[in-house]
Amino acid sequence: MGLSSMKGSEESEAYDAQIHLYKHVYNFVSSMALKSAMELGIADAIHSHGKAMTLSELSSALKLHPSKLGVLHRFMRLLTHNGFFTKTSTQKEGAEEEIAYALTPPSMLLVRSKPTCLAPIVKGALHASSLDMWHSSKKWLTEDSKELTLYESATGESFWDFLNKTTESDTLTMFQDAMAADSAMFDLALQECKHVFQGLSSLVDVGGGTGGVARLIHQAFPHLKCTVLDQPQVVANLPSSENLNFVGGDMFKSIPSADAVLLKWVLHDWNDELSLKILKNCKEAIRGKGKEGKVIIIDIVIDETGDDSKLTELKLDYDLVMLTMFNGKEREKKEWEKLIYHAGFSSYKITPICGFKSLIELYP
Ligand SMILES: C[S@@+](CC[C@H](N)C(=O)[O-])C[C@H]1O[C@@H](n2cnc3c(N)ncnc32)[C@H](O)[C@@H]1O
Repeated sequence: MGLSSMKGSEESEAYDAQIHLYKHVYNFVSSMALKSAMELGIADAIHSHGKAMTLSELSSALKLHPSKLGVLHRFMRLLTHNGFFTKTSTQKEGAEEEIAYALTPPSMLLVRSKPTCLAPIVKGALHASSLDMWHSSKKWLTEDSKELTLYESATGESFWDFLNKTTESDTLTMFQDAMAADSAMFDLALQECKHVFQGLSSLVDVGGGTGGVARLIHQAFPHLKCTVLDQPQVVANLPSSENLNFVGGDMFKSIPSADAVLLKWVLHDWNDELSLKILKNCKEAIRGKGKEGKVIIIDIVIDETGDDSKLTELKLDYDLVMLTMFNGKEREKKEWEKLIYHAGFSSYKITPICGFKSLIELYP
C-alpha cells in the first residue's frame, strides 16, 4: 500500500515512525553540540560570571568571532531545549529586554572548578578515537574475527595498546582523566555506602587508575590501609603515602592480600572468562580474612523491567561501548549471579548507587 492510500491512523503511525527514526539519526548532533559547549567552556563562563549571561556577554567571554553571534544563539537554543541551560530575561537600564542563559544541574557538571566536573567524560567519550570505528561496524559484523573488538577491526590495534603507546600519552591522560572524573562522583555515593568500608583495616583498589577513588576512601577512613593496583605505566609516577600506596602489576597474575578488594568500573571492560579470572584472584587476595573478607564491585546492573526507559537506554549504550572498545559487557543481575557463584563466592548483595551504577558486595 502506498502512503497516499493510508488511513488517518496509519498515516499518523508512519509520521510517528518517521520522527522516531529521524530523532535517532540526529541524536549525534545533540552529543556533538554538548561537546562544543564543553570545549568552548560555556558552563565555566556562566559560572564565573556569577549570574545568567546574555548572548553578547557569552560571545565576548568565549572570545567568539562577532560574526558567530547567530550561530551561538542556535547552539544555545538546542542545548537549552536539551536541558543544559535555562533562559531568563534580563533588562539593563534604558535597553530592551534580552534573553540570558543560566546553568542547570547537568551543565553544572561541566564546570571545571567543581570537584564533580564530568567535562573529561564528554571529551573522552566523544573523542575521534571512540567514534571513527563505528563506520566499520558492518565489516566487523561480517568478518570471521570472534576475539577482535570493533576498535581493533577498524584500527588494527586494541584500545589498550593505543592508550599505552608512548606517542599517544595524551590519550592515556585523557582516558585516566575521564576515569578520575567519574570517580569524583563516587564521593557523593560514599556518604550512602560508608558502612561497606567500616571495620576494614586494608583494601586493594584493583584497576584503581590514578587513585581517585582510593583517595576519597582514604580521606573518609584515614586508618584504612589503601593500595591501588594498576598497570605499571599508569601508577609509575604516583607518590605513595603512609596509608595510600600505588603498586604496578597485573590483576590477571596476582592481587596483593587485603581485607577487601574494590573493583570499580573494571569488570565491564572484560568478557566473562577474563572477569572470572580477576574475581578468582580477588577471592585469593581476601583469603587471609576468612569469612569476613569481601570483594566490592561497582558497575552497572541492567534491569530492563525495573528501571525506567531512559536509564535502561544509558545502560544499553554503555554495553555497546564496552563491547566495541574492549569486548567487555554490562551485565544483567542473572549474569552477575552466574559469574559470582562460578568464581566461588557464597553470597552477594546489590545496592544501587551513583544514579546508574550498583555496588555489589561478594562474600566468600
Ligand atoms: C575503566 S578503568 C577504571 C579505573 C578506576 N577503577 C575508576 O573507576 O576510575 C580500568 C582500569 O583497569 C586498569 N587495568 C587494565 N588492565 C589491567 C591489569 N592487567 N592489571 C591491573 N589494572 C589493569 C586500567 O589501566 C584502568 O585504570
